Amino acid sequence: MAAEDVRALELDDIQNGVLHPRPVPYVATYLVLRIDDSRGGRAMLRELIPSIASAADPTSPERDAWLSVALTYQGLAALAVSRASLDSFAPEFREGMAARATLLGDVGDSSPARWEKPFGTADVHVLLTAISPDLARRDDLLERAREAYRHTAGVEVIYRQDAQVAATGREPFGFADGIGNPAVEGSGIASSNPRERPLNAGEFVLGYLDETGALPALPQPDVLGRNGSYVAFRKLHQRVAAFRQYLSAQSSDPEEQELFAAKMVGRWRSGAPLALSPEYDDPALGADPSRNNDFLYHDDDPRGLRCPVGSHIRRANPRDAFKDELIGVNRLHRMIRRGTTYGPPLPEGVREDDGADRGTVFVFVGAHLGRQFEFVQTQWVNGGVFLGAPGEKDPLVGANDGSGTFTIPRVPVRRRLHALQRFTTTRGGEYCFVPSLSALRWLASGFR
Ligand code: HEM
Repeated sequence: MAAEDVRALELDDIQNGVLHPRPVPYVATYLVLRIDDSRGGRAMLRELIPSIASAADPTSPERDAWLSVALTYQGLAALAVSRASLDSFAPEFREGMAARATLLGDVGDSSPARWEKPFGTADVHVLLTAISPDLARRDDLLERAREAYRHTAGVEVIYRQDAQVAATGREPFGFADGIGNPAVEGSGIASSNPRERPLNAGEFVLGYLDETGALPALPQPDVLGRNGSYVAFRKLHQRVAAFRQYLSAQSSDPEEQELFAAKMVGRWRSGAPLALSPEYDDPALGADPSRNNDFLYHDDDPRGLRCPVGSHIRRANPRDAFKDELIGVNRLHRMIRRGTTYGPPLPEGVREDDGADRGTVFVFVGAHLGRQFEFVQTQWVNGGVFLGAPGEKDPLVGANDGSGTFTIPRVPVRRRLHALQRFTTTRGGEYCFVPSLSALRWLASGFR
């Protein structure tokens, strides 16, 4: 291995949004921009660069608010990046999320034909994210972004999505979220799971060794690819009333209802994991970051008697479940999630749909769209082969069609829930690339 392969993470060149956890509480705004003129696009980037935070000083409170910029394949083309360079990006990114809809389970109401415009069209070029613990700093970031595009001919904002944490701190189905994320070697940010070794930086940032010991393919030229990451951005509408109706129809009393809800997620509403508290919710455990992610499955709960093998969190991160077969295979499918929630919460106890749009802006960050996001989405969320239940999908976010089942292992007899519907609808999404700060400067300067 060449010495230069084992590089320290260049935090001052990586965008903060890649490595920094989402602040709590938070307010966020996502803007989509279209570039009609490559010179205008480059001018806008030039103005924007001073406001884009790097990942340096990871523990500074200033890092809790940031502006980040990501580009789609069409966006790079709109900036007049060369054909050879465009061709060097990952195939999933080049194709775009809409082209991969069937594979991802984005069918029926979730199909690109039904997506909110401009998602899935060739108009989505730039995705700007402004995120902050408070409204004042979010607005300040947006104002700085506005300064960059306001006076630039040939650049237009074509979509805006606001997001904010609910007063309860929970996502729309009513669960604490944003708990489990992998730690990145060299990021300076501690692991939320003391039993998970930080992952090699190349799993999340291009230009570094990944868990296979290889350097992932770098988009060319090096200055463009190095210190960049891929993003899967998805607006997922949540059918909260349908979720509540389903739970009450399946259970005999409110206590059982809460148990089934927890079994579907793998955590109680407070965030307390079933792996550590299988019988009842334990809000103190849920709120304690030193304990709420400190567990594995293989030795403590091999059959899923506490946390069902088919639950959302165990599918999305089976941790050490494959220990016997191949040590560490799960490390090839880890995902950084930077999601936020949007829309007004459905008031407690309401079971009728009020027609409001609410859900999660799901944001995956990593170096491998294919073996991380797409693998988890297709094989673990929407597939059941790996857990020996080929017909089952994720009960919370899987592409169920009303005939789905969810198995809850129990002794002496397992319990099986039937007639699972789809509780989330994809309203749009894009694959993006988050360039490093030097790549942004290279793009802004017309490739010099
Ligand atoms: C609206 C859709 C979704 C909702 C409401 C949702 C909700 C949740 C909740 C409540 C948790 C537990 C708390 C936490 O660790 O953050 C969680 C964890 C997680 N979710 Fe989701 N999720 C959604 C979509 C997805 C999708 C589509 C994927 C993957 C493609 C995914 C991957 C994960 C992962 C990797 C974890 C962490 C698991 C762990 O490390 O234990 N989620 N999600």
